[in-house]
Amino acid sequence: MKTPPRLQSLMDEGLIDSVVRQLMSGKEAEAYVVRCGDETRCAKVYKEATHRSFRQAVDYTENRRVKNSRQARAMAKGTRFGRAAQEAAWQSAEVQALYKMADAGVRVPTPYNFHDGVLLMELVVDADGDAAPRINDVELTADEARSHHAFLIKEVVRMLCAGTIHGDLSEFNVLLGADGPVIIDLPQAVDAAGNNHAQAMLLRDVNNLRGFFGQFAPELLKTHYGAEMWDLFQRGLLSTETVLTGKFARDERAVDLTGVMREVDDARAEEAARLVRMKTGA
Ligand SMILES: Nc1ncnc2c1ncn2[C@@H]1O[C@H](COP(=O)(O)OP(=O)(O)OP(=O)(O)O)[C@@H](O)[C@H]1O
Ligand SMILES: [Mg+2]
Repeated sequence: MKTPPRLQSLMDEGLIDSVVRQLMSGKEAEAYVVRCGDETRCAKVYKEATHRSFRQAVDYTENRRVKNSRQARAMAKGTRFGRAAQEAAWQSAEVQALYKMADAGVRVPTPYNFHDGVLLMELVVDADGDAAPRINDVELTADEARSHHAFLIKEVVRMLCAGTIHGDLSEFNVLLGADGPVIIDLPQAVDAAGNNHAQAMLLRDVNNLRGFFGQFAPELLKTHYGAEMWDLFQRGLLSTETVLTGKFARDERAVDLTGVMREVDDARAEEAARLVRMKTGA
């Protein structure tokens, strides 16, 4: 196809040789199949901020570290430099998250390059070598649903153990490659330890998976993997080897009523003694 303008500089730099076709256009980006030498890759072109839904809401950018304080101040003030810095931070957040997740052994597309607002990465393919479908577009048997769900729960744990929460995980951001599910679309990944919304985002991610795979294997709908892994993570007990059960019992041990009443009685007795002392001037 004719080279889209945003890919021209990558052509000029020799990073890509030709553009084969456009993949589905997302809300934040357009993805293309490109040729690089003998290899077929995926080029993700980020839309300009003004063309995007404003997903980088405060919960996502909270605690995202920026390189220097001028940048941080400008981002806070929303100046033009600030918006540009925020834009760059948003794009490079996905690149950084991809490298970090790939390092942690999470099944994400292998990142190759990031140039002029374009991310070059592995093209996830199906058994025929064509761009893989989103898992949402695939009919699954109950067994397939169970096994993909179990695999993805392990990947979420692996991400969490590496300190990261996807933040927008769902059947729309998982591709079904020839060798199983691949997690994509990470610009909003958040720091699991330093973000007040981390727990809520993790639960949402895990519940999205539960709701989707539960359509094919209804017993999954009764599971509580999100709450279980968060509880272990918070207590420093989660590892990539942890075997989860999907069960999570809230701590609902009966309040020790006798103990509470004893304390109330003690306080009353003390107050009575104080009043007696005041009256008697002791
Ligand atoms: N590495 C890849 N290999 C194959 N296809 C991909 C790859 N990355 C993205 N795609 C395709 O491009 C689409 C858009 O990609 P992605 O989800 O990363 O972009 P987005 O614009 O942020 O999406 P969203 O619609 O969730 O906002 C995906 O649904 C998928 O079909
Ligand atoms: Mg997406």
